[in-house]
Amino acid sequence: MDKVTVIDHPVVARDLSILRDKTTGTAEFRAALGRIATILAYFALKDLPLRNTSIHTPITETAGCEIDTEIIIVPILRAGLSLVNAIINFIPDAKVGHLGMYRDEETHKPVDYYSNLPKGVKDGLVLVVDPMLATGGSADDAIGFMKKQGANNIRFISLIAAPEGLERISKKYPEVQIITAAVDEKLNSDAFIVPGLGDAGDRYFSTT
Ligand code: PRP
Repeated sequence: MDKVTVIDHPVVARDLSILRDKTTGTAEFRAALGRIATILAYFALKDLPLRNTSIHTPITETAGCEIDTEIIIVPILRAGLSLVNAIINFIPDAKVGHLGMYRDEETHKPVDYYSNLPKGVKDGLVLVVDPMLATGGSADDAIGFMKKQGANNIRFISLIAAPEGLERISKKYPEVQIITAAVDEKLNSDAFIVPGLGDAGDRYFSTT
């Protein structure tokens, strides 16, 4: 699992506690998730390639740089949408593709219902984002789908991962970097992450 980054940061630890707390309301939940998403984005983007440019300050000409890759953010709907804006804050011209899937409550397997991708996934850096990596079924489907579309530089960003999901994705896609804020204890019999934070989509969109 040398491609897995688990973020160790006091602000993340404090905000994870806010997210896990069942008494946290929608506004506070969104704010805490947004702060962690910013830190996740920082780590996910910290080794982006740069190309040299030449710029003119008001005083003189000097060396500058630009990011030398296109970024394509691919949220797994719905909950993945909660991580998009933090990345856009760093990369304002990032493209966004959408993959719609929900996890069947009985089988715990992902059910695909929508996809809409921009051009450029073959050459760009694809960031598949979903706050919860539980069994890994949704991430597995999403990464597999993006590879079929020709993506060959994929990173997966999550908020909380279960060991089961982390192992599944690391084994099947050893080339995919995973950036997460926490690795929790286990899955329960309903395939929910323990201790987790409940259903991220429901809490973020206030649909409980
Ligand atoms: C949740 C979560 C992930 C998936 C994780 O989605 O947001 O997409 O389950 O589980 P897995 O790793 O076992 O596949 P959910 O089905 O609740 O849909 P939602 O995002 O629309 O709330």
